[in-house]
Amino acid sequence: MNDFESNRFACIGGGNVGRAWAIVFARAGYAVTLYDADLAALETQTLPAIRRSLDDLAEAGLLADADRVFESIRIESSLADAVADASYVQESISENLEAKRTLFRELGELTPKDAILASSTSAIPGSRFMETVDEPGRCLIVHPVNPPYLIPLVELCPTPWTDPAVLDRCRDLMVTLGQRPITVQGEIPGFILNRLQFTLLTEALHLVGEGYCTPEDLDHVLTDGLAMRWAFLGPFGVGHLNATQGFQGYMENLGPMMRELAFDARMDYPWDEALVARIHETLSKTCPVEEVPERQAWRDRRIMATLKRRQSDG
Ligand SMILES: NC(=O)c1ccc[n+]([C@@H]2O[C@H](COP(=O)([O-])OP(=O)(O)OC[C@H]3O[C@@H](n4cnc5c(N)ncnc54)[C@H](O)[C@@H]3O)[C@@H](O)[C@H]2O)c1
Repeated sequence: MNDFESNRFACIGGGNVGRAWAIVFARAGYAVTLYDADLAALETQTLPAIRRSLDDLAEAGLLADADRVFESIRIESSLADAVADASYVQESISENLEAKRTLFRELGELTPKDAILASSTSAIPGSRFMETVDEPGRCLIVHPVNPPYLIPLVELCPTPWTDPAVLDRCRDLMVTLGQRPITVQGEIPGFILNRLQFTLLTEALHLVGEGYCTPEDLDHVLTDGLAMRWAFLGPFGVGHLNATQGFQGYMENLGPMMRELAFDARMDYPWDEALVARIHETLSKTCPVEEVPERQAWRDRRIMATLKRRQSDG
């Protein structure tokens, strides 16, 4: 249970993440207001994208009433109107520190004083932009994985001055919404998920950049290798099952090699524009940039199939 039953949710930023959050809140039965600095895009891109996602969810048997959810989401043409009676605001504007700082200052003035103010930032610790908010104890990072209406994990990252009761309310709310919250204990850029994700990506750039494998083969190492287990086991769980003596035995066997590789891996690899362009060109052969929205819908349907299988497996 949470204490948001009759309240209003505001999503600020209607891009990839903001529109997905709107679905999360509306699907749970809440009224949602949506605001973006680019009002035209809200009408021409955000709403049609939400409609398409809801129809895909309904077709996959993961949503009973797509029309009701769609009708719960209302566009507002001013920030003030969007948040005036909000009890929870989820900010998902572009990853720009100054823009977030300005917006949070405004949110502090425009929202009811007990409204929770959450940010979707991928990496910026909250204390860098939530400090000047009126009543900063109500601010925290609620970092989703895109799209959050399909991927349950959220990272709750309090600032040093986030009220513990606010953190508890957020955790309860996320559980009610069907998300899987974890709490990041102490501020660290990138939180947990993106530190893991970008460490892997940086070493991938090193391996491809130095010609150890092609970009296609690098992706296959995940899709046909590591990620087959990672859909249901984390790296600690994988280690535990990869040795008959469990994680302890796994580390005794492979720990020394792991330490050597850690010195070898290149977190400081100087990847450059030419390498990025080469990888982009390879990916664009199978997915030209203009087909990205279509391919995103394909990705989401694949995740839906995984979700359905998880549900039937219990
Ligand atoms: N894309 C991802 O996979 C992902 C995952 C988790 C978190 N995030 C984070 O979520 C946030 C949004 O990412 P996204 O991928 O949706 O970006 P996006 O570029 O798709 O959307 C950002 C939206 O914010 C709007 N905007 C910019 N400044 C604004 C302002 N001052 N007021 C109102 N609207 C404004 C833009 O018009 C745009 O529609 C970022 O902080 C990002 O780091 C992204």
